[in-house]
Amino acid sequence: MAIHDILFCQWTGIASGIYLFLAAWQWLCKYPPPWMNKMESLGQPRAQRKLPGTAVVCGGSVAGIVTARICADHFERVVIIDPEIQDSEKPKTRIAQYNAVHIFLSLFVDGVWKLWPNLEAEVEAAGSRTCLADYQVHYSGLPLLVPFREYVPGHFPCSIAIRRSTLQAVLYRLLFRYPTASNITVMPGTVRALHASEDGTSIQTVVVRGLDGTTSSVHDAAMVADCTGATQAGVKWLEAAGFALPAGIRQSYDANLRYVTVCFNVHPALAAKLPIPEAVMQMAVLYTFVPHGDAESSTIAIMKTDNDTMLLLIGSTGHGDLPHRAPEIIPFIAEFKGYSRKIPSWVIETIDALCEHGNPVFNNLKMNAQSYVRYDRAPLGSVPSNFVALGDATMQLNPTHGQGCTKAMMNATTLNYLLHKTESGPTGLPADFSARFFKNSATDTQALWDSTRLHDYGLESCTPIEGETKEKGRLLRWFERKVLSAATKDEEVASALWHIRHMRAADRSLFAPTVLWKVLLTRSIF
Ligand SMILES: Cc1cc2nc3c(=O)[nH]c(=O)nc-3n(C[C@H](O)[C@H](O)[C@H](O)COP(=O)(O)OP(=O)(O)OC[C@H]3O[C@@H](n4cnc5c(N)ncnc54)[C@H](O)[C@@H]3O)c2cc1C
Ligand SMILES: *[C@@H]1O[C@H](CO)[C@@H](O)[C@H](O)[C@H]1NC(C)=O
Ligand SMILES: *[C@@H]1O[C@H](CO)[C@@H](O)[C@H](O)[C@H]1NC(C)=O
Ligand SMILES: *[C@@H]1O[C@H](CO)[C@@H](O)[C@H](O)[C@H]1NC(C)=O
Repeated sequence: MAIHDILFCQWTGIASGIYLFLAAWQWLCKYPPPWMNKMESLGQPRAQRKLPGTAVVCGGSVAGIVTARICADHFERVVIIDPEIQDSEKPKTRIAQYNAVHIFLSLFVDGVWKLWPNLEAEVEAAGSRTCLADYQVHYSGLPLLVPFREYVPGHFPCSIAIRRSTLQAVLYRLLFRYPTASNITVMPGTVRALHASEDGTSIQTVVVRGLDGTTSSVHDAAMVADCTGATQAGVKWLEAAGFALPAGIRQSYDANLRYVTVCFNVHPALAAKLPIPEAVMQMAVLYTFVPHGDAESSTIAIMKTDNDTMLLLIGSTGHGDLPHRAPEIIPFIAEFKGYSRKIPSWVIETIDALCEHGNPVFNNLKMNAQSYVRYDRAPLGSVPSNFVALGDATMQLNPTHGQGCTKAMMNATTLNYLLHKTESGPTGLPADFSARFFKNSATDTQALWDSTRLHDYGLESCTPIEGETKEKGRLLRWFERKVLSAATKDEEVASALWHIRHMRAADRSLFAPTVLWKVLLTRSIF
């Protein structure tokens, strides 16, 4: 063989080796995250006999309603306890964000749909509609591309454009109109305490204070779900019941966020006058402006919600006042500085017309710090074997990414998956049930806490977790700016980002070779 033939053979050998390596790398990065597969069994009734006893769901908001629906598939009885659950139409006073703008990621909507196939009919009956899960995000004013072309027309993931308060009523109706509701009991009241079983390994009794001040108990708790949201009451209950939770189980940092939601009443005559482009009317959000790190501007978003309402969000970090009255809004937006592209005039004109004729109602909110109760790190035995916590009761994220309800759905998906794998025995849940529940998704999804937190560490007004400094995550923030820059012009990078933001893909999809090289070669424009 001539020398160049040998060289040629070696080169093709090396080249195909590299190719195979890259292909495997690509495949690994793009492989669907584990939680997507777990969603398959959502809403599927249990094949085996039901688990004996009562599943006690503490808190009856988004996480509680979804959890109760799932528990009804698995347990003989379900009790859902909340002081404000009884009248689903009455405004809730214990949920600070009840009147704040909410977007509902498509994964949350997919989950609700699996649990209640009649979702769309109930949404329409409530005066709302399903829409495309596109939030028209303009980063520093520049539109991020949306992967419409990857989906067959008519199959792009869905969202619901609805006020949180209306959605909450829809979920409540779905829960109690569905046939499995026959074994769900509502107890209007507040959970005051949990009592351990005789051997001290699980919870046996849940103590409830009724609305009239009387105390009653559920004595045959098979499982206790803490769905108390921001209260994160489980930590207190467990400590009072004699469980030795590790010190520092609750981590928190403060992104120092402020939020204003303005609700407008858009009667048909006003709607006809608004200069909103036809194409964005089918989207979940009509326009979103997100400022980049060091710009002097705030997040704004406008959406068309149920029953002739529209919502305007103004969100900000750090100092300075947000508008409190309609005449302050337009001047406030006019002072934005440091963006890459101006907010389009139709957005300004729409907001202006709404302020003038839309009967604005303001909801100004100073937000809680972000927090994560690390039940996943508690040593085996320090948390009762039949205790779980879902939704904000374990993790409160920076809400600007709209992940809260989806996170509750993912926690419920994990619960359902584990319950399907649990045999019906006479002795209740296995000794490691709680530990498996908390650990199961923590490793897959730690990213959600890390990426939002480390992003926030880039904000001037953010106070980090005790023991961490805001230096942490510098590399990630550098990478994030490159990703966002690339996502304004490259469809593949934008698609990876979109799928991660919608929690339909794992963060690793940004490290697929075909995506990564484009990101690294992109010079950040922010
Ligand atoms: C300003 C803001 C904007 C947000 N925007 C979005 C968004 O766009 N998209 C999104 O998905 N998420 C968003 N979120 C997050 C989302 O609202 C929460 O993740 C979601 O409400 C969590 O639901 P939950 O059921 O866990 O808790 P909550 O909704 O807080 O409900 C807790 C329930 O527990 C009950 N309770 C409390 N203590 C007890 C007790 N001792 N006994 C019995 N019941 C009790 C309360 O009455 C309440 O009903 C936002 C949050 C904020 C603050
Ligand atoms: C919204 O409209 C629907 C249908 O017209 C109506 O039944 C419902 O009561 C309204 N809800 C609210 C919160 O205004
Ligand atoms: C409700 O519970 C009873 C008794 O455990 C059971 O026979 C019945 O099938 C349950 N109903 C539903 C809808 O699960
Ligand atoms: C709940 O979901 C969040 C986000 O997916 C995840 O990080 C957390 O580990 C989950 N917790 C549990 C107990 O499943």
